[in-house]
Amino acid sequence: MIRYSKVIGTGGYLPEEVRTNEQISQTVDTSDSWIFERTGIKSRRIARADETASSMAEIAARQAIEAAACAPEDIDLIIVATGTPDRVYPSTGCLLQQRLGIKNCVAFDVQAACSGSIFALSIADQYIKSGAAKKVLVVGSEICSRIVDWTDRGTCILFGDGAGAVLLCASDEAGILSTHIHSDGEYEDLLYCPNPQAATDAGKDEAGYINMRGNEVFKVAVNTLGRIVDETLAANNMQQSDIDWLVPHQANTRIIAATAKKLKMSMDHVILTLENQGNTSSASVLLALNEGVRDGRIQRGQVVLLEAFGAGFTWGSALIKY
Ligand code: ACO
Repeated sequence: MIRYSKVIGTGGYLPEEVRTNEQISQTVDTSDSWIFERTGIKSRRIARADETASSMAEIAARQAIEAAACAPEDIDLIIVATGTPDRVYPSTGCLLQQRLGIKNCVAFDVQAACSGSIFALSIADQYIKSGAAKKVLVVGSEICSRIVDWTDRGTCILFGDGAGAVLLCASDEAGILSTHIHSDGEYEDLLYCPNPQAATDAGKDEAGYINMRGNEVFKVAVNTLGRIVDETLAANNMQQSDIDWLVPHQANTRIIAATAKKLKMSMDHVILTLENQGNTSSASVLLALNEGVRDGRIQRGQVVLLEAFGAGFTWGSALIKY
C-alpha cells in the first residue's frame, strides 16, 4: 500500500497594518501605477513591533490544527520555513513547539528563501512516506518588512509579512503526488541578504537588508519555473490539462502569468494573493493554498500544483491531489 501525505488542515495569518503603494511612493521615488503594472502588487501587510515569525506562525498553525480537528500533541514533526527567524537559535520551529505546548515532537527550520515552504513540504513528505512521522506541521512565516531597506525602491515595493501553515497526515488515500526541489548556489550575487554579525570583517559594514538585481532574477525565475512545470508533469505522467489549480509563489504577476501560460491555464485557475499581500517569501505559497481552500475554490480530489523560486537560487514544486 502506498503511503501518502494528505493535507488535512490549512491556516494563515496576515498582520493588520496595510501599507499601500501610495504610502510607499511618499517616501521613495515610485508610483502606484509603476508598482502595480510591473508587479501586480497594490498593498502589503506589515507586522506590529511586538510580532515575530514565531508569533505569526502560531496563529497560522493553530488555524491549520483546528481545521484538521487534530490535537497539537498528535503532531510528531514541525518544520518552519523562514528567512526571518526570531533568533539565530533556538529555531523558529522550536519556538513554535513551545508556543503550541507540544512536548514530544521534533522541530526545526528550513532556510530556502522564497522556496522554503516547498522545501519543507518535500522534507515532510519524505518523513511521512518513510513512516518516520505521521502528522507533520509545515509553516512558512516571514517578517520581510524587517529585512527590507525602505529607501531602496527596487525591493521595498515587493515584500510583505505573513504566515501560512499546513498540517499533513499519513494516509492511504492520494495526497502529495510528488515534490521536486533544486538549488544552484552560483547566483548569490543576484539575490542575497547579509548577516552582518556573522560576516567576515569585509562584510561587517553591510546592512542586513535584501539586495536584489530584480531584472536578472526575473529572467532566471521565468525560465526555471517553466522547467519545473515540465519536470513535475513528466514525473507524474500528466498533461497540462490534468492540473486544476496553480498555487504559485507570489513574487510578480508577470512571472506567475508565464507559468500559467506554460500550463496552458487561464488565470482563473491560479490562486493569486500578491495584490494585497506582496511577496511574503516562504509564507506565500501556503497563504495562497489556505485562501484557495477556505474560499472553496480548491476542492477535495482536485490536482494542485504548488511552485516557488527564491534566493540561492532555490526552486521547487509539489503536486498535490487535494
Ligand atoms: N519605481 C519606479 N521605478 C523603478 C522602481 C520603482 N519602485 N524600481 C526600479 N525602477 C526603475 C529602475 O531604476 C529602472 O530604471 P532605468 O531604466 O532608468 O535604469 C527601470 O525602473 C526598470 O527597472 P527593472 O529592474 O528592469 O524593472 P523590472 O521590469 O525588471 O521590474 C521587479 C522590477 C519588479 C523587481 C522585477 O524585476 C521582479 O519582480 N523581479 C523578480 C523578483 C523575484 O522573483 N524575486 C525572487 C523571489 S524573492 C526571494 O527569494 C527573497
